[in-house]
Amino acid sequence: MIPRILEPEVMETTEDVAQYDAMDHGEVNARFAADFLAVHGIGRGGEILDVGTGSARIPIEIVRADSLSRVMALDLSEAMLEQASLNIAKAGLSRRIRCHLGDAKTLLDQFGERAFEAVISNTIIHHIPDPGPVLEAMARLVAPRGTLFVRDLARPSSRSEIERLTMAYAGHESPAARGLFAASLGAALSLEEIQSLVKRMYLSPMDVVMTSDRHWTWVWRNVG
Ligand SMILES: C[S@@+](CC[C@H](N)C(=O)[O-])C[C@H]1O[C@@H](n2cnc3c(N)ncnc32)[C@H](O)[C@@H]1O
Repeated sequence: MIPRILEPEVMETTEDVAQYDAMDHGEVNARFAADFLAVHGIGRGGEILDVGTGSARIPIEIVRADSLSRVMALDLSEAMLEQASLNIAKAGLSRRIRCHLGDAKTLLDQFGERAFEAVISNTIIHHIPDPGPVLEAMARLVAPRGTLFVRDLARPSSRSEIERLTMAYAGHESPAARGLFAASLGAALSLEEIQSLVKRMYLSPMDVVMTSDRHWTWVWRNVG
């Protein structure tokens, strides 16, 4: 297994943000929203927290598909949230998605336990050097009968597999965007690493499964 090589945590510069927002994540975002709503249900109301929302493409998909949902879109990058606000306004959804500048590493300083109907997160765990406490805080923010839905890239076992996945899924992107995707795969947790973090929280590691050739997904329902 190749070692995890961290990449910068936050996407700060306007160039980073423009490059990220221009990349074609449409299919991945649509699948995230559909998979989340399939387990959480539609029409439940309440607020969903999206941790590391980026340019808010996933919250936009979710509130379009579920007319009762509202989302708090959290990110640590001001530049990313500026792009998110533009995208939300352009979609005419400013009353249902609010942006929040905040750090995923201090969630429990910002919100009360069980404050959200659901907590979701797509491809941010690989940005976090020590993801265990962040995952635990996300779980503690989920209301009773609510849903935690976390998805990220899985680190492949070899460099040749990183190259294969990069060509398969970012081969049509710019060289810079291809480099970003390859670096993200190298910074990601392996399936075994994320399962072991979940086990340390006394939750079932079997709830983390591979959901594509490059993503793991952890779904947890708060039955408490
Ligand atoms: C790869 S992007 C994913 C964005 C979005 N979830 C999506 O799927 O399009 C990762 C995002 O996580 C944000 N991020 C990284 N570390 C963070 C932290 N500690 N707290 C909040 N956001 C963070 C970055 O600024 C970036 O917007």
